[in-house]
Amino acid sequence: MDEIRERMLEMANKAEYSEQPLSWFEDLYRSSNRDRGQIPWDWKEPHPFLIDWTNENKISGRALVVGSGLGEDAAFLYERGWKVTAFDVSESAIEWARYLHQETDIDWVVGDLLNPEEDWFGEFHLVLEVHILQAIPEEIRKKAYRNLAPMLASGGLLVCIGRLGEESDEGDNGPPWPLTWDFIHQIGEGLEKVELHSATIPEKEGKRYRAVWKNTRQTHKFD
Ligand SMILES: C[S@@+](CC[C@H](N)C(=O)[O-])C[C@H]1O[C@@H](n2cnc3c(N)ncnc32)[C@H](O)[C@@H]1O
Repeated sequence: MDEIRERMLEMANKAEYSEQPLSWFEDLYRSSNRDRGQIPWDWKEPHPFLIDWTNENKISGRALVVGSGLGEDAAFLYERGWKVTAFDVSESAIEWARYLHQETDIDWVVGDLLNPEEDWFGEFHLVLEVHILQAIPEEIRKKAYRNLAPMLASGGLLVCIGRLGEESDEGDNGPPWPLTWDFIHQIGEGLEKVELHSATIPEKEGKRYRAVWKNTRQTHKFD
């Protein structure tokens, strides 16, 4: 295990059973002193599954990027014509992303998926989550995913991308905790399934999934 992952696991495991199990994200970003090499999940580019998806779906509107980290996916959507709001629970990540992508007009917000801003509900044509649910402990993950679908406007799309796990995977070696299809299906409850895709990515470990659902219900903010 490399040093950076070891450091991350130490911070995550210490926080997991504390009163603030997500606090280690801020600790990790802050203590990295803006050295991207210290952030184990930073690919320094948009996720290839997001690039493929936008190539196949030439649409735009209001997008919400959940757990935006250093903002590569948010900046990519912005370049593709989306009006982007991006939020992360870590203030240091948000300040860093704002600095990295200062040429954009993205609305960067410090926020928590467990308690999203009220005026986001029913508001977005796209809600994007990349590698977030798999990074938070199971008990919290269940509460977190239930807040994704309600932020969609009528006709809006929820796109989730992450590591795919097997039902037979055992042990608690995360984060990350790859998600099983059983769990992934729950994320889209109440929405119409559009796509469930999985593949490996060259030079990246394990299988990945992209799941897309559509909100076919009318919301009070229909436009
Ligand atoms: C594994 S990183 C992925 C970051 C980014 N999406 C990427 O793909 O590079 C998980 C991110 O989710 C953020 N995060 C974790 N829990 C969160 C929550 N409850 N609300 C908002 N952001 C959260 C972390 O601060 C971190 O930036």
